[in-house]
Parts: sequence; C-alpha cells; structure tokens
Amino acid sequence: MKKSLRIVAALAAVGVVGGLAFAFVPTQITGPSTQLPDDWKPAEGQGKYAMYASDCMACHTADGGKSFAGGRAIASPMGTIWSTNITPDPETGIGNWTLDQFRAALQDGIRADGAHLYPAMPYENYRKLTEEDVRALYDYFMHEVEPVQNKVEETKLSFPFNMRFGIRAWNWLALTHDAGFTPATGKTEIEERGQYLVEGPAHCAACHSPRNALMAQDGVSASDANFLAGGVVGGWNAPSLRGPNSAAQKWDAADMAAYLATGRNIHSTANGEMGLVVQHSLQHLTDQDNLAIAAFLKGLDGAPADLPESFAAKESLAMPALDADEAGKETEKMLTEAAPDMALGPRLYLDNCAACHFVSGKGAPEIFPELAGNHLVTGSEVEPLISVILNGAQVPSTAKRPMHLVMQGYADRMNDDEVAELASFLRKGWGNDAAAVTAADVAKVREKQVH
Ligand code: HEC
Ligand code: HEC
Ligand code: HEC
Repeated sequence: MKKSLRIVAALAAVGVVGGLAFAFVPTQITGPSTQLPDDWKPAEGQGKYAMYASDCMACHTADGGKSFAGGRAIASPMGTIWSTNITPDPETGIGNWTLDQFRAALQDGIRADGAHLYPAMPYENYRKLTEEDVRALYDYFMHEVEPVQNKVEETKLSFPFNMRFGIRAWNWLALTHDAGFTPATGKTEIEERGQYLVEGPAHCAACHSPRNALMAQDGVSASDANFLAGGVVGGWNAPSLRGPNSAAQKWDAADMAAYLATGRNIHSTANGEMGLVVQHSLQHLTDQDNLAIAAFLKGLDGAPADLPESFAAKESLAMPALDADEAGKETEKMLTEAAPDMALGPRLYLDNCAACHFVSGKGAPEIFPELAGNHLVTGSEVEPLISVILNGAQVPSTAKRPMHLVMQGYADRMNDDEVAELASFLRKGWGNDAAAVTAADVAKVREKQVH
C-alpha cells in the first residue's frame, strides 16, 4: 500500500525562517480534554474498537511485517517518512511511554522525547479523540498488543524538513482547534456519534478535505466551510462528501453504510486508498456506527437521514438490469442502435465493457458498479480511471460480503489511443460531463503499472 500523505511544502519557509526564533521555546502539551477518575477503566474491547475505527494498523504495519511494528514507508514530497514501532516493546517500541506521552503524540503530535512528529501521523484529527478513547487506546497498546522488537529505519528528510522544530510553527497555524470532541448543536444522538467518528478516529478529513496553502487540512471540524469538500491523495480524487452532487446526498443512508462496511453498494465500489480504509477499518465497525456516519454526512448539508435498522442483508440482491435514468437515455439508445458509423469510444465500450456494465451504464447491483454519475469515472484526476481500464481492479472480501469482486485489465488488448477514446466516452456518456483523456495521459499511467 502506498500512502502518499502530503505535508506542508511551506514548512520550509515557516520552519527555517521562523524556526530558530522559537527553537528554544518549550513545547505546549494540551493535557487531557476531560478529567477522568484515576481508577477509570475502559470497557472490554473498547481500545481495540477505537484502534479499528482509527486505522492505526494501516500506517504502522509494514507489508508482511508484524502488526504495529512499524517500518511502513510513507511517501511525501520531501522524502520517505517511516512509520514507527508502536508495540509495547520497551526498547524499539512505546513500552516505556506514559499515558501523558502517548496522549501528546495523538493530540499534539509530540514524541516522548519532546520532538515534533510529522503530520503524516494524523494528529490534526486524533486531537478530537475523547479522553476515554485515548485512555482505551493506551490500555490496548500497553496490554493487548504483542511487543515486537523491531528497530525501524530512521526518517531522514533533506534540509530543511529534517528540522523537526519547524513543525511547531506549522502547528500554531494548523492546530488551532480544541482537543477533545465538541458536538454540533441541534443534532440527533446518532448524528453526533457519526460526527465523532468522522472528525476524530476515522480521520476522513485527512483525505476528503482539501488542503490549504500550508498543506494543512482545510476543514477539520464539521463547522468548517470546506470540511470534506474533496481532496486529492496520491493521484486519486477523494470525492467531496457534501453538496447536491455528492454520494452522501445522492445515495440513501443504507447504501452509504453498505459502501463503508463492504466497499460496494448498488452504485459504486471502493478502490485505492478507500478500499484499504474499508478493509482495515470500517468493516470492523458495528452497523450502528456505519449508519451513524451516513446519518452525520446527510445532516452535514441539512438533509434528514431515513435510517434503516440494518443494511446489506445476507441474501444477495437479485435485481433485474436497470434502465438508464433520464440523463443516460440518449447514450443508451446510441449504444443499443450501434450504427455502423458509431465512434471508436462507444464501439470499444460495446465490445469490451457492456456485457457487465450494460448499455445503460447502470451495471448490476453490488457486482458491476454504475459508470453513470460515478466519481471515479468523472474525477478531475484521470489516473484512477485509466488504471482501472489498463490494470483492472478489485474489491476485497469483507465480513458482510465475502465475495471478492475482480475486474480484469485491458492493457494488452487496447493501445493508448483506444484507451483514451474509451475513457473520454465514459466521461461524457449517460450525462457524465468531464474533460477528455489524451493518449499521453494513458501512456503515463501505463508506464507506472501501479494500483
Ligand atoms: C496515516 C498514517 C498513520 C496513522 C493512521 C496512524 N499513524 Fe501513528 N504515526 C505515523 C507516522 C508516519 C509516524 C512517524 C512520524 C514521524 O516520524 O514524525 C507516527 C508516529 C506515531 C507515534 C510516535 C511514536 C514514536 O516512537 O515516535 C505514536 C505513539 C503513534 N504514531 C501512534 C498511533 C496510533 C495509536 C494510531 C491510531 C490511533 C496511529 N498512530 C495512526 C502514521 C500514522
Ligand atoms: C486514506 C484516505 C481516505 C480516508 C481516510 C477516507 N477516504 Fe473515502 N475515499 C478515498 C478515496 C481515494 C476515494 C475514491 C475511491 C474510488 O474512486 O474508488 C474515496 C471514496 C469515498 C466515497 C465514495 C464517494 C463517491 O462519490 O463515489 C465515500 C462515500 C467515502 N470515501 C467516505 C469516506 C468516509 C465516511 C471516511 C471516514 C470514515 C473516508 N471516506 C475516509 C480516500 C479516503
Ligand atoms: C466481466 C465483467 C466486467 C467487464 C467486462 C468490465 N468490467 Fe469494469 N468492473 C467489473 C467489476 C466486478 C468491477 C468492480 C471492481 C472494482 O471496482 O474494484 C468493475 C469496476 C469498474 C470501474 C470502477 C468503478 C468504481 O465505482 O470504482 C470502472 C471505471 C470500470 N469497471 C470500467 C470498465 C470498462 C471501461 C470496461 C471495458 C473496458 C469494463 N469495466 C469491463 C466488471 C467488469
């Protein structure tokens, strides 16, 4: 898995110019957001659940490595940042860390030795964790995680990014929100729960909020104007989760919860980083929590959420192929008539794709995603669409939907011009309205052979 987390390009300017001035000012540590009694104990399983919701495993486990033993390379524009060993091994992990030191890492981005962490560790979001969850996580990492002796590679960014104290200036600008969770007013209890999960542990904004000039998240709280308004991660669009055209508003709450828990629903499939979020984190949440996230997202733009008791029923959906909706009728008709002078793009679609995704562009529920109105198809970043056509894609098995969904790639069957014509057709078909793709775009993705 490649996690390309972007950090502050402007860190250089802020960090070095201002850096020396405050290098000797002591760091501020926030402390607990709520005072809990000393003998407070987490409920059975609370820490492990908070770990799943926060996806600590994803970044702190190397491919083929032991859980939480660190050593995953995280690409950043300034060089590779290595995730650390967070098992309770006293020498190479965090076994000797106190609760206060652990909290400071999560909420303030400060290590036990007082140095600043790079914001590749999403402390902007974990700052919202409740004190209960911080304590539960600490308890889990100290007592339930197996200690693993594993000295990870030291992060060595080039000058000036190697000067960790420079991050202090960045934190002054990016970390202005209070520690702990503040629910929005006038919301239902379930929306509040959703708000907590989205803002805090599940750190959706780390990918789905845009970034500002300092590369900090432009929108970390539900009350921020650009919260979840869409971001770009490693060449992929993490689409906007608000506004009339967003999945959050167009899909009903049960479909949204199904997407989060299983990586598929009647509209779309989760690929790239989102597939990993589903696999490592969201599939482990309760139905109520995935519904709470859906309810919160609906409510963010003021829509009421009609919540079902559960979703993704055990029996599979045996639904007939759907007709195109109004916007898609013209494309459906053109493909059905298949006139001899039909352009290359739609012809390639009929020959290679229509058997599964249908002339309606509607696909088949939970198996073949819709291409009409699909944000992977219409995104400003074209690499994901080209990559799916060239290399295929797959959705992992999850507890509720064990079947692996696989689409084969077409790299050997189509040249760059053909892929460009096909992709451009998809981006205009069925009422989609996105700019064309060029053969040069395709050549770039073919060279990479990733995803
Ligand atoms: C998006 C990736 C990502 C996620 C998710 C993540 N971390 Fe981290 N974490 C990192 C990186 C990268 C570092 C090292 C940063 C650096 O060297 O400045 C780090 C550092 C840390 C440190 C400091 C350890 C040390 O020895 O310096 C702790 C503690 C920590 N993470 C705990 C957690 C916990 C607990 C979770 C889940 C609640 C979590 N992390 C989730 C990327 C992540
Ligand atoms: C590590 C980055 C990352 C995180 C964290 C993340 N997402 Fe995503 N998300 C993505 C990417 C990338 C896509 C696009 C996936 C695709 O095109 O198949 C996506 C797609 C989605 C979609 C489909 C949107 C559409 O218009 O098709 C939804 C819904 C979604 N994410 C919700 C969430 C929620 C809710 C959270 C937090 C619980 C979250 N995501 C956390 C990266 C992320
Ligand atoms: C044999 C059936 C089959 C054929 C033929 C097929 N696909 Fe797919 N396609 C799938 C499946 C299954 C998925 C879900 C896998 C995934 O998204 O990871 C999928 C996913 C996609 C996605 C991603 C959608 C999303 O929501 O993330 C796109 C885009 C796509 N296909 C386009 C095409 C194009 C273009 C063609 C023709 C070149 C094609 N497919 C041919 C089965 C097929």
